[in-house]
Amino acid sequence: MMWNDNLKIGVPLIDQEHKELCGRIDKLLAACNQGHGKDELLDTISFLEGYTIKHFNDEEKLQRASTYPKVAEHKKLHEFFKGKISELKNEIEMNGVNIATISKTNYFLMDWLINHIQKVDSELAQYIK
Ligand SMILES: [Fe+2]
Repeated sequence: MMWNDNLKIGVPLIDQEHKELCGRIDKLLAACNQGHGKDELLDTISFLEGYTIKHFNDEEKLQRASTYPKVAEHKKLHEFFKGKISELKNEIEMNGVNIATISKTNYFLMDWLINHIQKVDSELAQYIK
């Protein structure tokens, strides 16, 4: 289980959305362990394309409502994530789902999300509190 209370930043809406994102990654990892990773991978990617738009917008709205000084910097990181997701999607469309695309996606999602929550989003939460 990827989500745990140490990942809470103390803003209920954002914590809820992070929990949802972690849950989707768990679902993908579980599917991989059961040998259904191929089916789940594209579903996960489409889910993320939609959900991260909502989630990043919610975070960016919070930033604009405060005088958070790193709005542009934070947005750039969100854009990087969105770009990476569409890059992965293109690669999957071209090469199909295989061990390489599955492990690359799993690794990127876990690594990016945990790092981003613990470093960037918690800094934002500290600031708006
Ligand atoms: Fe963020």
